[in-house]
Amino acid sequence: MPDLTVMRRHYQHEGLAEDQLAGDPFRQFARWFHEAVEAGVVEPNAMVVSTADAEGLPSSRTVLLKGYDPRGFVFFTNYGSRKGTDLAANPNASLLFPWIGLARQVVIGGRVEKVGRDETAAYFRTRPHGSQLGAWASEQSSPVADRAVLEQRYADLAARYPEGEGVPVPPFWGGYRVVPRTVEFWQGRENRLHDRLRFVAEGDGWRVERLCP
Ligand SMILES: Cc1cc2nc3c(=O)[nH]c(=O)nc-3n(C[C@H](O)[C@H](O)[C@H](O)COP(=O)(O)O)c2cc1C
Repeated sequence: MPDLTVMRRHYQHEGLAEDQLAGDPFRQFARWFHEAVEAGVVEPNAMVVSTADAEGLPSSRTVLLKGYDPRGFVFFTNYGSRKGTDLAANPNASLLFPWIGLARQVVIGGRVEKVGRDETAAYFRTRPHGSQLGAWASEQSSPVADRAVLEQRYADLAARYPEGEGVPVPPFWGGYRVVPRTVEFWQGRENRLHDRLRFVAEGDGWRVERLCP
């Protein structure tokens, strides 16, 4: 068993200074996202989404970021899943990009809204045929007796919608857009004196504050 108390990396990364920061969090995110891609981070668009249910009980899971622009950050999922029922009761979420290889993380907090059905349909059509069927086959987050039940559902759907045939968008499936209120850029530095610069929405613009590490 490795000794976890001595497992730590020594960060010697370049810092993130106020005068280097882009004017808004979307452009800053674009820069860092590009750098994560260039650095070969595995699935750089994988992010941890945290939600809370009506009682305030939190839960987290990884999903893939499928788009972002000044309106917010978009992912797709099953609206009946645990995250879906959480968001119906409490439309707030936190997104976390753990770009560990670069000693970076981005943490976004904001309100969540469903994307329009046209936007969902446009994305659904870009998914491989098998993923489209998979979205129909899975009552995401519900218990299932065994794997065979899922495979049978998938086979029935594949018979109904053979490859090349249009698969309709499941009504229970679609996108969420997280409209950020805060976006924090964290850069690991020497001696645990990390840089933390946080954009906070203010009126039509953004205020930047530095947080203690
Ligand atoms: C790398 C990775 C990417 C994932 N991407 C998605 C995704 O884009 N959408 C999704 O619904 N689930 C995705 N999942 C599965 C979720 O983590 C989760 O198991 C599922 O959405 C059910 O979550 P819930 O029961 O908390 O609602 C992904 C998992 C991993 C590990």
